[in-house]
Amino acid sequence: MARKKLIAGNWKMNGLLSEGVDLAKEIVAEVKKLGKPGCEFLICPPATLLTSVKKTLRGAKVALGAQDSHWENKGAHTGDISPAMIKEIGCTYVILGHSERRADHGETNEIVAKKAKAAHENGLKTIICIGESEAERDSGKTLDVCTSQIAGSVPEDSTAADTVIAYEPIWAIGTGKTPTPADVEEVHAAVRKALAKKLGKAQASKMRILYGGSVKPGNAKEFLSLEDVDGALIGGASLKAADFLGIAKNAGCC
Ligand code: 13P
Repeated sequence: MARKKLIAGNWKMNGLLSEGVDLAKEIVAEVKKLGKPGCEFLICPPATLLTSVKKTLRGAKVALGAQDSHWENKGAHTGDISPAMIKEIGCTYVILGHSERRADHGETNEIVAKKAKAAHENGLKTIICIGESEAERDSGKTLDVCTSQIAGSVPEDSTAADTVIAYEPIWAIGTGKTPTPADVEEVHAAVRKALAKKLGKAQASKMRILYGGSVKPGNAKEFLSLEDVDGALIGGASLKAADFLGIAKNAGCC
C-alpha cells in the first residue's frame, strides 16, 4: 500500500508577520518549481500568522496547519483556539500532543484524544505526536511509552484519511541528536502494530507515520527511505525554505 509522503514544517513559536509571510512565499516559489511533487507539503505557522500565510498559499501545493486546537468549538477557554476557528481560516491539518505541549501545558493522552476527536469532527486532519524522553529511552521503555501513547491519544474511530502519527523522541528535538535508522524502524513498526490493534489492520497499513527530531537535508534520506517512515515533522530546518525543500529533495520524494 503506497502512502504518500508528508513533509511537514512545525514553525513552533517563531515568526513575526513579515518573516512568516516571506518564508511562506519562498516555500511556495520552491514548491512551484517542482511541478507535480510526489510528496505532500504542509506548513504549520503560529496561530497569529495563519490568516496571512493562507493568502500566500493560494493556488499552491502547500497545505496549512495549526499547532494546536481545543476540544470544544467555542466557550470560556481564555487563550485557546478552537478547531472550528482554524478550519474557518483554511487549515486542513492540526498538530496535537506535541511533546512541548505535553510538557508546557500538561497535556495528557486523554486531552490529546479529546482534541483529536473534536478536530476530526470539524473535518480537520490531525498529526498526533508521540515519543519518549531520554530517561525513558535509557531505561529501555521506548516501545512501551510509544505504544501506550498510541493507545491513549488516538481516538477509537480515527482513520488513515484523518490521522497521521508523528514519532518524535523528545531527546532528539532541537538537539542535533538522532536515533539510529534501525531504532526508528523498530519504533515505527511497533507503532503500526499498536495502530492495528486499536484501529484494525486496514487503517493501520494506510496510516502515515512521520519521524521528527533534528531532521535536516543531510539525514533526510536515511530516515525517509525506511519502510515505515512516511514523511517528516520538521522544526528548526522548516524555518529555511532551502532546508525544508532540501529534506524533500534529498529524501527523493518530490
Ligand atoms: P527539530 O526539527 O527542530 O528537532 O524539531 C522537531 C519537532 O519538534 C517538530 O515538531
